[in-house]
Parts: sequence; C-alpha cells; structure tokens
Amino acid sequence: MENETVDRYELEAEFYDKIYDYKEDIPLYLEYSKNVKGAVLECGCGTGRILLPLAREGIKVVGIDTSKKMLAVARRKIAEESEEVRSRIKLVEADMRNFELEERFSLCIIAFSTFLHLLTVEDQERTLRCIHKHLLPDGKVIISVFNPDLSRPQNLVRLDKIKHVDNEIIMRFTMQKFDFPNQLMDVWHIYDFVKLDGTVKRHVVYFKLRYIFYNEMIELLKRTGYEIEAVYGDHKKTPFNEKSPLMVFVARRKK
Ligand SMILES: C[S@@+](CC[C@H](N)C(=O)[O-])C[C@H]1O[C@@H](n2cnc3c(N)ncnc32)[C@H](O)[C@@H]1O
Repeated sequence: MENETVDRYELEAEFYDKIYDYKEDIPLYLEYSKNVKGAVLECGCGTGRILLPLAREGIKVVGIDTSKKMLAVARRKIAEESEEVRSRIKLVEADMRNFELEERFSLCIIAFSTFLHLLTVEDQERTLRCIHKHLLPDGKVIISVFNPDLSRPQNLVRLDKIKHVDNEIIMRFTMQKFDFPNQLMDVWHIYDFVKLDGTVKRHVVYFKLRYIFYNEMIELLKRTGYEIEAVYGDHKKTPFNEKSPLMVFVARRKK
C-alpha cells in the first residue's frame, strides 16, 4: 500500500493482539461461515483475530493482507495450532484492491473497519470488483465499519483504552481530525507501555481513514455488482439505525 497505514501495522503488529482483543464480531462471522462450501476469504486478515477461531470451528479460511509483519504474527500463532487447524488456513500477502487467487468463494469478509483503509472511491470500487470476481454466483460479502459520528471531538487527545497485560499497563490515547471535503480522518494513536517500575515506552502511529456513510455504501455495493441482503447496526444483528455504533453490510453477488 502507498499510504501511511502500512507503517501503522508494521509497528502495531507485535502488540496488536494485546490491544485489539475484541471478540464480539466472531459469532456473526461463524454463523455466516457455517454453511459455506469451500473456504471463507478474509481481506485484511491481520494477525488472524477472526481467521483462527473460524479455522478452529472446522472452517477453511484464506486470509490476504498487505502487511508482512501482521502476517508474520498470524503465521507464528498458526504454527502453535494442531495439524488439523493449520491445514484449514492459507495466508497470502496481497492487496485487496488487486489480487488474483485461483479459488472462488461463497463468503468474503472485511471486518473491523478495514474497508476504511481504502482512501479513495476508486480504491473502494476496485476492491469490491476484485472480490466480486472471486465470489461464486451466489457468494456474499460482509463488510463491518463504524458508523461515522462527525460530532466527535477533534484535536483532543483522549485516553480510550487501558489494558493490563503481562505486568504492563498499556494505555492508548487517540486524537482525530476530520478532513471534511475529502471525507478523510487523520488519526493518531499514542501507546504508552507502563512497567510497574514506572518506566514508560511510547509508540506513536499516524494514519488516515476514509469514513463512509450508510447510503454511500449501499450505492457503492449496487454499482459494483451486489444486492443488499441486510444491514445491521452491530454484530448481534440489531437492525441498523442512525445511532448504531456500526454498519454491518451483508451483500450478495448479483449473477
Ligand atoms: C484493522 S486491521 C484488521 C485485522 C483483522 N481483520 C482483525 O479484525 O483484527 C486492518 C488490516 O488490514 C490490512 N490492510 C490494510 N489495507 C489493506 C489492503 N489494501 N489490502 C489488504 N490488507 C490491507 C492491514 O495490514 C491490517 O492487517
């Protein structure tokens, strides 16, 4: 990838799992994966936060990601699994905007706001068309992104995560700034790793996201060859409304 988000994951890879230990989305992906023929494709699979639990439940998975370091962490974790689980997982270093796999899939997922790393409409369309090419005729795509809240404070550093792991307290401070005309967000994450003896190690990452609105995503999916099956406002399948924290789009490839 040509944008700043590469550096973000190259740096975050080693501690990503300590901070992003979110599990609430996994049952939804499991439910949609259960009756799938063949493998499930995950674009932007990262360290395997979702892929691994799916493979442990007997589902074959293919994960693609651009970050060598995130994939290296995933590979390290997969190496500790049983032979059976390992045999169900395939990882490929590839860009979701332009990839070529021989396999065709009944389900593709883009989880955890990964879609927002696509910073232009052109990149969003390329990605959805590329996935379309890899889906079987009735194949589905599930895209989970946050529902943008433009009233969120800007230029304000706030502490938004605290984790106590391995004798360390990890604090994440976030600052964000909207670039409204371009529909982009500048985001800074400041991570402080505080040891019990008081020493602190700080890591700072900066990246951009392109937030997307409900109707915009619906139109984007329709013009790239999908029909909408459902839109949820969270991972428990609550119907979407304007106050929902998330937008979870389930769309079917049109024949
Ligand atoms: C928010 S993380 C999500 C990781 C994992 N899916 C999860 O839910 O924990 C986003 C991931 O997408 C990857 N990524 C960003 N842009 C990408 C692209 N164009 N193609 C493939 N992967 C991409 C990043 O390297 C990172 O691993």
